[in-house]
Amino acid sequence: MSNLATRLREGTQKSHTAAENTTFMKCFLKGIVETVPFRKLLSNLYLVYTTLEEEFRRHQEHPVVGKLYFPELNRQQNLEQDLAFYYGENWRSEIVPLKAGQVYVDRLKEISNTDPALLIAHSYTRYMGDLSGGQALKHIVRSALDLPSDRGTAFYEFEQLPTIEAKKEFKEKYRQALDSLSLDEDMVARIVEEANYAFTLNRNVVDELEADVRAVLDPHVFELLTKQDRVGSTTARHGHAA
Ligand code: HEM
Repeated sequence: MSNLATRLREGTQKSHTAAENTTFMKCFLKGIVETVPFRKLLSNLYLVYTTLEEEFRRHQEHPVVGKLYFPELNRQQNLEQDLAFYYGENWRSEIVPLKAGQVYVDRLKEISNTDPALLIAHSYTRYMGDLSGGQALKHIVRSALDLPSDRGTAFYEFEQLPTIEAKKEFKEKYRQALDSLSLDEDMVARIVEEANYAFTLNRNVVDELEADVRAVLDPHVFELLTKQDRVGSTTARHGHAA
């Protein structure tokens, strides 16, 4: 037993706040979503999730990684649908990793070979985020891009967890699975550290897309949209950000 769920939540609060305060995300949350940077983001997430999910499959019998193997979370196929929508049927030859996307993929492969338990940090950072804030992002994309019904946001759909309640229950199950791992303090600390690095890797991907977002905005509007910082969504509701 460990308290990994709480350690991860508390240990990544600052990283979460920083992720919400990237220029890309600040604009996104205000409804500024453009097809070109958005499909580039999805392309890079496709490369990341394909690797993450392949490595989880490979280690599904591993005593630690296997306990967090939840194929119902898999995003690869949903991302394929979205990429076909945004790029057309030849999407596979159109998608190119950003520099930061390649660094992210390489990191997943590296730890999968040297220290697979650290993959848990990456699963936590992405899937728990997708099941939380990601659900709000879906509505923003749909209205910003004026999408036809049922197209373009498969990434945010969890067919096996279709309702808010199902997602909430699953997140509880996921947290219990994190806590059920028998890990020593050193390992817990290393997983939290890797989760913070996972946030950094995500931030670097969206930072590389910043120029695409800036390009379509009047400089003054851009300044207005990005000048204020948000209080992080995972910081204490009634206190100040730690
Ligand atoms: C940009 C806008 C974002 C918003 C509005 C947002 C919002 C939220 C909210 C409201 C929660 C709390 C859910 C709950 O208590 O059940 C949450 C949790 C989480 N988010 Fe985000 N998020 C954003 C971005 C991100 C990003 C970029 C990542 C990582 C790539 C991320 C990863 C996470 C994780 C791992 C959790 C789970 C925290 C925990 O309970 O342990 N989020 N997010």
